[in-house]
Amino acid sequence: MHPFQCVLRARRCLRRGPLASVSWLLLRTCRAHSSVPSFACPSPQRQQEDGVWKDFSSRLATGPTFQDFLRSASVPPEQPSSSEVEDPPPYLTVDELLGRQRRVYLETYGCQMNVNDTEIAWSILQKSGYLRTSNLQEADVILLVTCSIREKAEQTIWNRLHQLKSLKSKRLRSRVPLRIGILGCMAERLKEEILNREKMVDILAGPDAYRDLPRLLAVAESGQQAANVLLSLDETYADVMPVQTSPSATSAFVSIMRGCDNMCSYCIVPFTRGRERSRPVASILEEVRKLSEQGLKEVTLLGQNVNSFRDNSEVQFNNAVSTNLSRGFSTNYKAKQGGLRFAHLLDQVSRIDPEMRIRFTSPHPKDFPDEVLQLIRERDNICKQIHLPAQSGSSRVLEAMRRGYSREAYVELIHHIRESIPGVSLSSDFIAGFCGETEEDHLQTVSLLREVQYNIGFLFAYSMRQKTRAYHRLKDDIPEEVKLRRLEELITVFREEATKANKSFVGCTQLVLVEGPSKRSAADLCGRNDGNLKVIFADVEMEDATDSGLRVRAQPGDYVLVKEMWQSLNSANPGSMGGVSLR
Ligand code: 5AD
Ligand code: SF4
Repeated sequence: MHPFQCVLRARRCLRRGPLASVSWLLLRTCRAHSSVPSFACPSPQRQQEDGVWKDFSSRLATGPTFQDFLRSASVPPEQPSSSEVEDPPPYLTVDELLGRQRRVYLETYGCQMNVNDTEIAWSILQKSGYLRTSNLQEADVILLVTCSIREKAEQTIWNRLHQLKSLKSKRLRSRVPLRIGILGCMAERLKEEILNREKMVDILAGPDAYRDLPRLLAVAESGQQAANVLLSLDETYADVMPVQTSPSATSAFVSIMRGCDNMCSYCIVPFTRGRERSRPVASILEEVRKLSEQGLKEVTLLGQNVNSFRDNSEVQFNNAVSTNLSRGFSTNYKAKQGGLRFAHLLDQVSRIDPEMRIRFTSPHPKDFPDEVLQLIRERDNICKQIHLPAQSGSSRVLEAMRRGYSREAYVELIHHIRESIPGVSLSSDFIAGFCGETEEDHLQTVSLLREVQYNIGFLFAYSMRQKTRAYHRLKDDIPEEVKLRRLEELITVFREEATKANKSFVGCTQLVLVEGPSKRSAADLCGRNDGNLKVIFADVEMEDATDSGLRVRAQPGDYVLVKEMWQSLNSANPGSMGGVSLR
């Protein structure tokens, strides 16, 4: 029997509240919920530091050769994972590449890809003998995983660096010097500008250079700045199992592809994260299987363009049946052929564990062939929730953005998705005040928000980014106050419409995956429904559907039926329904 059917058959009303009635029923799954095991560190060998540095300095003076840089630039993606640091560059010894129990403090900014990158970076450092700390004062190495998508995101990092500067200068001489690193998109975009502007930054590692972190930190130990911002055509970190940081986590992110070839005219991502490349299906399935064995109940497939997924890693995949673009959509790049596509991956991933929910983000509207939509409709554990970034409601602006579709094609796709997947939750991204956006264009976006009634929305004011096509070819001509006024208007309309859209959940029974205690009240639990809306409900004893008669308290990772949800009166948060709130 499918577990979801089992819950529905056994539901029972447990509480009636003043606003409306809510009932729960717990689905405790057969497998014990086990926490994610931590990985063992290799035993670090402490060194007689003085002698090592002298030797190290003399070898550095003779320096690495050109060949050394070529070699580290082309680390094969399928390196076997090993707790040993193998084959070090000839100017560094294996010892120097070890972390010597230095404590690393990692801080993540920006999108979910950065959260996943943090886990990858940590996995690599852990294998090199570094320890992790969540206490900044205790850290020997501070690494910021950064975002460049908008100016404000970068400003936050500059401000943080100023704070860290004083931490570094006040460091006691009795301790090893504090090392500071910038990882990810900002390292890639600004490169040596960061090293020149902030002398206190010791290392820079772009999104494709995390394997090089032990070497970069080893060089930094000598007091020199070190950088690797090489982008790769094939790095997917396929063999690096990210280390889950929260032992009680019920869900995990699994990176399936990196980079982006779309070249939307406003976007810095193709420049900071490089060309689009997909991780081999087999390694994704292996990671999802491990997560299922660890008791995780939700996996989100991650990538800049998840649904453009195309695994070409084996020759025979090139004969795979090709899938089409969504009707009325085009690409900025030459058509790609063959490979295992997203529908295949989604099918395989969702078969691993029927109790495990599957989500994906962030897709591009151009890659929603019927195969993908049918699969979402048919498979119980693939969430009926689609993020469909529109960016604008004006065809004229969409063309300037080089999105590859018109408003009409986008709206047609929305209708097609709603017909194919009844009850689907929709979310979107919008940019207010893009180059040349007129008041009429803006009103077109307002009308798209009214027409579609998204459940969740992410709205931004346009932020001009150097290197992009818009920077070179268009004029950032909308005054800041106009951008912000338009953004406010979009947010207001979005909230009004989302409130209407989310009303459809009132009185409905929703299957909620429990995440843990609610932040608002210790007496409540918090979880998410299929549409990814937050649901808060009382932490009381309820019937266990898998063991009739047994009354238990729900735990993180349990599925609970929440019946007759009510909508919050908080109009600033239209997804808040009896505890349903926006991401
Ligand atoms: N300015 C404002 N928003 C942007 N986004 C991407 N680039 C910019 C920019 N230069 C938004 C888009 C994208 C989301 C991740 O960030 O809406 O979908
Ligand atoms: Fe940026 Fe467009 Fe690629 Fe999304 S699809 S990452 S907006 S270039």
